[in-house]
Amino acid sequence: MAAFSSSTVISILVFSLMHGAFMGLSASNLYQNFDITWGDSRGKMLHNGELLTLSLDKVSGSGFQSKISYLFGKIDMQLKLVPGNSAGTVTAYYLSSQGPMHDEIDFEFLGNLSGEPYIVHTNVYTQGKGEREQQFYLWFDPTADFHTYSMLWNPQTIVFSVDSTPIREFKNMESIGVPFPKNQPMKLYSSLWNADQWATRGGLVKTDWTQAPFTASYRNFNANPWLSQKLDAASEEKLKWIQRKYMIYNYCTDAKRFPQGFPPECQ
Ligand SMILES: *[C@@H]1O[C@H](CO)[C@@H](O)[C@H](O)[C@H]1NC(C)=O
Repeated sequence: MAAFSSSTVISILVFSLMHGAFMGLSASNLYQNFDITWGDSRGKMLHNGELLTLSLDKVSGSGFQSKISYLFGKIDMQLKLVPGNSAGTVTAYYLSSQGPMHDEIDFEFLGNLSGEPYIVHTNVYTQGKGEREQQFYLWFDPTADFHTYSMLWNPQTIVFSVDSTPIREFKNMESIGVPFPKNQPMKLYSSLWNADQWATRGGLVKTDWTQAPFTASYRNFNANPWLSQKLDAASEEKLKWIQRKYMIYNYCTDAKRFPQGFPPECQ
C-alpha cells in the first residue's frame, strides 16, 4: 500500500467511478433498461432479464422502450427475427426523440414467406423529416440465430451496422445545410406489428394468421458512450462493398421520387 502515491489512488478511484457509470449505462439486464409498453402479456422478459420476446397475434402486436434517453452513443442489441412465414409482419427497432420536430434512427425488418429474404429497411429523420430510406438484403438468415444490430450516433456521424459490418452511414452534413440529430435525446424502441398492407412484396403477400403468434427475440443490450468513433478507411471500403452487393433501394438514386432534384446530402 505504501508504494501507491496519493495521485495513483485518486486515479484508481476516478477510474472505478467512471467504470461504474459506464457499467450502469451498458448493463445487459433487460429489466433495468426497458419497459414493455404495449401489447399486454405479448411482450415478455425471461431468464432473469436476459431475454425479451415480443409477439403478434390477430388482436395486437407488442413493444418495449428504454427507460432512459440517450444523447449519442453506440447502441447494440442482438435480435432473432420472426421465423417461418413472417410475411406481413414488421419488427421495428429504432431510436427516436419526441414531438413533431423529432429525430429518429430507424431499422425495420420486413418479414417474408418461409425461405424468402427479409428486407432491412433503414431511415434517418431529422427535425421531423425522413424520406431517406435505404433497404438491404442480409447475407444470412436472420431468423436462425441472434445477430447484432447497432446504431452508432455521435456528433460527426450515424452508422448502421449488422454484426459489426457497417451497412449505412449518414454523416453530419450541416455544412451544406442538412440538419443533423444532435440536440434531442432519443429513447430506444422496438415493436412487432402487422403491416401487411405494404411490408411484403409491397403488400401483395398478406399475414397468414394461422401461423400466429409471431415472435421476435432480443438479448445482450449495450449502450456505450462512444463520442468520437468514426469509420476507418477499411470500414469505408467494406461499407461500399456491402452497399454494392446487398442494397436494394436507395432514395438517393430514385430520380422519379425527386423530380425537382435530389436532397443535398445525396450529392
Ligand atoms: C420477399 O421475397 C420476394 C421474392 O423473393 C422478394 O422480391 C422480396 O424483396 C422479399 N422481401 C420482402 C420484404 O418483400
